[in-house]
Amino acid sequence: MNDRLVVVEDTASDTTVLDYLRGNTETSTTSHEKRTGTKEGCCSGDCGACTVVVAEPEGDQLKYKTMNACIALMPSLHGKQLLTVEDLTGSDKHPDTKDELHPVQQALVDHHGSQCGFCTPGIVMSLFALHHESAEDKPDVLGALGGNLCRCTGYRPLVDAANSLANAQPDDEFFRNREKTLSKLQTIEQQGSVSGSCAFIPASEGELAQYLLDNPDARILAGGTDLGLDVTQQLEKIDKLVSLQNIPSLQTIHEDSNELVIGSAVTYRSIKSIFTKYYPEFAQMLDRLGSQQIRNQGTLGGNIGNASPIGDTPPVLLALDASLDLRHGDNIRNIPLNKFFLDYKKTELTSGEYIARIRIPKKTHQLKVYKLSKRYGDDISTVLAAINLETNGDGQITRARVALGGMAAIPKRAELCEQILTGSPLNNETLSQAKSAIRQEFKPMSDVRASSEYRLEAACNLLERYFMELSGQNVRIICHA
Ligand SMILES: Cc1cc2nc3c(=O)[nH]c(=O)nc-3n(C[C@H](O)[C@H](O)[C@H](O)COP(=O)(O)OP(=O)(O)OC[C@H]3O[C@@H](n4cnc5c(N)ncnc54)[C@H](O)[C@@H]3O)c2cc1C
Ligand code: FES
Ligand code: FES
Repeated sequence: MNDRLVVVEDTASDTTVLDYLRGNTETSTTSHEKRTGTKEGCCSGDCGACTVVVAEPEGDQLKYKTMNACIALMPSLHGKQLLTVEDLTGSDKHPDTKDELHPVQQALVDHHGSQCGFCTPGIVMSLFALHHESAEDKPDVLGALGGNLCRCTGYRPLVDAANSLANAQPDDEFFRNREKTLSKLQTIEQQGSVSGSCAFIPASEGELAQYLLDNPDARILAGGTDLGLDVTQQLEKIDKLVSLQNIPSLQTIHEDSNELVIGSAVTYRSIKSIFTKYYPEFAQMLDRLGSQQIRNQGTLGGNIGNASPIGDTPPVLLALDASLDLRHGDNIRNIPLNKFFLDYKKTELTSGEYIARIRIPKKTHQLKVYKLSKRYGDDISTVLAAINLETNGDGQITRARVALGGMAAIPKRAELCEQILTGSPLNNETLSQAKSAIRQEFKPMSDVRASSEYRLEAACNLLERYFMELSGQNVRIICHA
C-alpha cells in the first residue's frame, strides 16, 4: 500500500482487491484497509468507479497502470505498489500538505470536471496513471479515459483537465520516490515463488507445470479480467488459484525471422508496439478491446484460455494461422489454434495442461480486422471478422483465411467460404458465392447484442467491405450516433 509493505495471510482465493480495500463485510476477507475512497459501481470492470493504480517494475523502470479493483483478485497485487485515491492528497505524515490536492485533482477542479463522488475517484486515478506514463506508452486521452463512465459533466471537462497536464512532468512524492519503490519491488520479485492462503505464485514454468500436475483443479490466474467476473458475476467459489504473473518466461516476446513467440501472460499493453510493427490492423483493433484498465491487465493467453465465442483475438489469430505451445508436466506439444476450440468453452487443454506460448507467423497477406460492437470502445464484439487473403498479380485469390467471432459457439474459420475463395478471381461473382457459403456454414445465435439474422448479414457485409477495400474502392462508414 503506497510505501507500506503489507503481507496478507488470511484472505481467500476469491477475495477481490476492492473487497480488501473497502472491507466489505459480506466477503470472507478478514483483513482489510477500510479505504472507501475507491468506489463500487458495476462490479464487472465496466464503469471505472473502482479504478486504482498499480506500479510495477518493468526492467529498470517503474510503470504505473490502472486496474479495476472490483474484478482484480488479491494475488494480482503481489510485488506491486498499490495506490488508491487516498494516497494522492497530502498525507497525515506531512500535516502541512494534508489538504493539498494532487495536480490531477486540481486540474479536474480547475476544469469543472468533478461532480459526483462515485466516478471522480476512478477518473482521478486514470488521470494519475496517464500523468505518470512514459512517452512511449502514453495512450491518447480518450483511450486513457475510455474505461471511466461519467454521465454528468460529460467528457469535455475531463479531457480538458487531462490536456492541461499533457506537457507537465510528474513532480510528486511518487515520482521523487520511484527509485526507492522500484528497488523495494525488485526485492520482492527476487524472493521467488510464494505460497499463501489465497494462491500459489510460482516463479518458473517448471514449478507451475508441477503444481498443475499435482492440483489439476486449480484455476489459472493471468490478468484476471475474465476470472474476476466468475467471482463477482457468477458468484463462483475459487478454492485453488495459481498465478502466472511472476513467471518471466510467460511474460516474454521472442521473434525470429518467421514468427513471433508470445508468452501466454503477456498483456495487451505489452504486445501493442510489436503488433503495430507486424500486424497494424490487429494492433488497431486492440485499442478497442476493453478499456485501458482491461488492456493493462488482460493477456492473450487469457483470451484464448477463456474460449469465449466473442473473444476478440482468436479470430485474428486464426486468420494469421497462429499455433499454441501447450505444456503438461515436462511435455510440450504444439497445435494449430484451429484445432484448439472444440465446442462452447471446451478446448483441447487436458487436465493439468496450460497454454505456454502463442506462435504467430510474421508473414501476413492482406489482413483486415473488423470489430462490430454497440459502443466504439469498452465493449465486446457482436461480430468480429478477420480476413486475410493472398492474391496473385492476376487478381486471383491464391490463399484464403476468413475467421469469425460471435457467429458460432467457438471462434471459427469459415472453411466453406475459404474453399470458394481459393483459386477464384476477386470479383462480384466470387463475393456472392462466398457470402452464400457463410450463410450455409453459420447459424449464429440471437441474444441481447444482436439477432441471428443481423449477425449473418453483418458478417457477409464485412466480407463485401473487404472486397471493396482490396479493390481500392472508397468505403465510407456512416455512424449513426
Ligand atoms: C470490462 C471488460 C471488457 C472486456 N472487453 C473485452 C473485449 O473487448 N474483447 C475481448 O475479447 N475480451 C474482453 N474482455 C474479456 C477479457 O478482458 C479478455 O478475455 C482477456 O484477454 C482475458 O485475459 P486475462 O489475462 O485477464 O485472463 P484471466 O481472467 O486471468 O483468465 C481467463 C481464463 O483463461 C484461463 N487461463 C488464463 N491463462 C491461461 C493459460 N496460460 N493457460 C490456460 N488457461 C489460462 C483462466 O483460468 C480463466 O479461465 C473484457 C472484460 C471486461 C471485464
Ligand atoms: S465497480 Fe465498475 S469497473 Fe469496478
Ligand atoms: S462524476 Fe459521476 S456521473 Fe459524472
